[in-house]
Amino acid sequence: DTPQVTGFGLTEEQAEVQQAARDFAQTQLWDGIIERDNEQRFPAEQVKKMGELGFMGMMVSPEYGGSGMDTVSYILAIEEISKVDASASVCMSVNNSLVCWALEKYGTEEQKQKFLKPLASGEKIGAFCLSEPEAGSDATSQRTTAEDKGDHYLVNGTKNWITNGKNASIYLVIAQTDVDKKHKGINCVIVERGMDGFVVGKKEDKMGIRGSDTHSLMFTDVKVPKENRLGTDGQGFNIAMTTLNGGRIGIAAQAVGIAGGALELALKYSKERKTFGKEIHKHQAIAFKLADMATKVEAARLLCLKAAQIKDAGGDYSLSGAMAKLYASKIAMEVASDAIQIHGGYGYVKEYHVERMLRDAKITEIYEGTSEIQKIVISRSILKD
Ligand code: CAA
Ligand code: FAD
Repeated sequence: DTPQVTGFGLTEEQAEVQQAARDFAQTQLWDGIIERDNEQRFPAEQVKKMGELGFMGMMVSPEYGGSGMDTVSYILAIEEISKVDASASVCMSVNNSLVCWALEKYGTEEQKQKFLKPLASGEKIGAFCLSEPEAGSDATSQRTTAEDKGDHYLVNGTKNWITNGKNASIYLVIAQTDVDKKHKGINCVIVERGMDGFVVGKKEDKMGIRGSDTHSLMFTDVKVPKENRLGTDGQGFNIAMTTLNGGRIGIAAQAVGIAGGALELALKYSKERKTFGKEIHKHQAIAFKLADMATKVEAARLLCLKAAQIKDAGGDYSLSGAMAKLYASKIAMEVASDAIQIHGGYGYVKEYHVERMLRDAKITEIYEGTSEIQKIVISRSILKD
């Protein structure tokens, strides 16, 4: 087993959640994982079960159909699920930390009843739509518009790279209403699947997280009622940034999970494979590599736990979340690559899983803010006054 969380003392409930997520991942997600990756198949049945187990709305209050848990429990669950299937975990992460969280924090009572409840219970899936063909890192350069027409917004434009793009039915869409006001003229509107003029575009053929459905979305004169605006007029960019601060902790946990999964496989293999008359872990080069891998996973996990604890305590977690994501995504790449090295030639083929983990790890350095963007967030924070 990977070294378990130390020094922070999990509560009984947190440990139970961690174990339940581990049991689910180990018993339900290994099956068919290689086929899903090959065929780019969304883990629909598994995500449905995750909803039934309460993993799709973990931090949402029970009043709105959620599990009412803390962020620490949430990241422990994300980590366990990511050890096996990072495509299932990104679906879970977007639904929990981007869509449900924003709806619960900024939504009206009507919006919570109508949109949050089915998302938190796992009955429906949500998507968070900020990125565009020409606005990724430079997120304030929104080209999608939400023109104010009195009782509704008229939404036009294209969103790119949207996770859960095809399987979602509730979309939080960031769009520019007043160009003169720059980022203070941006709104966040809730678009529902089936609205006239809303079309799901092409599916991306990706390097990793191939079970996750990543699509472009097209909006042509989509009439979105005013009551579907999340937050106040012009608050959309602030909502997106604040929501991403928490989302980044979830992605950091995903990276810890991918790294932890690769480490577990490498530990196991090093005890099975023999060369020169002994198990390969008895060669010091392999044992030391494993020691470095385990240390990195532990350090990344502690950064994640710290960010989650600050969030649970009501503090400002933007800096610690960015640090956790920056470091965890970096070590996920390193640990997955080392796990392949420990497997030798077998590591390079799909049957042994670690090559998929390296492909899956790469996305954690890109989405929810690239590593360069995390460094902008971190440096601005540590340099201010
Ligand atoms: N938390 C809260 N507010 C923030 C913030 C943060 N981390 N970062 C910026 N803001 C606020 C600023 O305070 C400012 O608001 P005010 O004027 O009201 O003070 C406003 O946002 C604009 O900020 P900046 O002037 O700093 O804007 P900028 O253009 O220099 O860049 C940025 C800001 C940090 C680079 C930002 O654009 C960014 O985070 N880019 C990355 C976008 C991103 O993470 N996309 C992820 C898409 S979702 C996704 O990827 C999901 C998935 O894959 C699964
Ligand atoms: P760019 O912003 O064009 O960046 C290109 C390179 O330049 C990067 O290395 C970047 O770090 C670097 N760079 C840019 N600006 C600077 C700077 N100022 N200083 C230093 N370096 C800089 N988005 C959503 O809204 N919702 C989703 O659900 C979602 N899911 C995704 C799923 C996948 C599989 C992928 C690939 C992307 C997803 N994204 C999603 C989009 C993702 O958040 C963006 O790809 C990411 O923010 C980077 O934007 P970009 O691709 O436009 O790269």
